[in-house]
Amino acid sequence: MTPDPTPPARQGALDLCGVSLRGPVLNGSGTFDVIAARRAFGDVLLERFPFDAFVSKTITLAPRQGNPPPRLWETPAGLINSIGLPNKGLDGFLELDLPRLAELPVPLVVSVMGFSRDELARLAGAVGEREEVAMLELNVSCPNVETGLVMGADPAETALAVERVRAQTDTPLIVKLTPNATDPAAVAAAAQDAGADAVSLVNTLKGIALNPETGGAWLGGGGGGVSGPAIRAIALEQVAAVAARVEIPVIGMGGIASGRHAADFLAAGATAVAVGTESFRDPAAGTRIATELAELSLRGGQPAPASTVV
Ligand SMILES: Cc1cc2nc3c(=O)[nH]c(=O)nc-3n(C[C@H](O)[C@H](O)[C@H](O)COP(=O)(O)O)c2cc1C
Repeated sequence: MTPDPTPPARQGALDLCGVSLRGPVLNGSGTFDVIAARRAFGDVLLERFPFDAFVSKTITLAPRQGNPPPRLWETPAGLINSIGLPNKGLDGFLELDLPRLAELPVPLVVSVMGFSRDELARLAGAVGEREEVAMLELNVSCPNVETGLVMGADPAETALAVERVRAQTDTPLIVKLTPNATDPAAVAAAAQDAGADAVSLVNTLKGIALNPETGGAWLGGGGGGVSGPAIRAIALEQVAAVAARVEIPVIGMGGIASGRHAADFLAAGATAVAVGTESFRDPAAGTRIATELAELSLRGGQPAPASTVV
């Protein structure tokens, strides 16, 4: 990330849930540690910020250590991660991280996850009332301790969670869908009907890696989540299915590593896209992908609309 007097061209501005963005490329939650990147790259990071909105790592009510190492396994064309959502908890986030995130030159989306609807509602209420926060993202990829069901795997569970959160805050609400659901489009429709302003997908797919010496789990946390180009075709299908089912904006992600991939997600019906695993390989990937996307659209290179993709 070197200084350059001419910032690269980005695809046009858009309105996402009433929040104006200079372009359609976000980051996937948990895949870009902006506070560490600012330490490494200095203010050049702010001048050439790779994303058009920044999504925080998911926070929980209580602080979490995360899973024991090892936390990453490289698969062909992807990663399996078992990070386990280490974070400072709500109070630590508000005191230590939010002031730093508020300095970013783009709107801030804060990702929250609760182990019960009460927890989710408390988090959303406390974070949503902060003026630095433009949008909330609900990460519903975890089991509800009250029911044992993964909130985002079931339309009824999702609806109950979203209704509860909606009652706490008027801040625009993105529901991040898990691909590990029987019918993600039904979950998206339930989220929309319960008051979500947008949905984002996909989160990681379930995966494991085995230790060749012991035959046991390689990752310290046991199972993990697969991301990167390995999941792109699956993500694209789910984005197309969800976009065909709901009227609210869809933020598409899963293995996006080039402007061409981003254009495919937009053609499949997404309003915006997010870059995740690719940022580990190249911290400026968001900028490169946005530039490639802008060039493609200048050349009229958008692929066919969603109806012919599915
Ligand atoms: C190391 C790592 C950490 C992640 N942490 C989170 C997280 O905290 N919250 C969340 O909603 N998604 C998290 N994700 C999922 C990503 O945001 C994204 O949905 C997923 O990786 C698919 O996009 P990609 O293939 O471009 O990485 C994480 C993914 C990775 C690889």
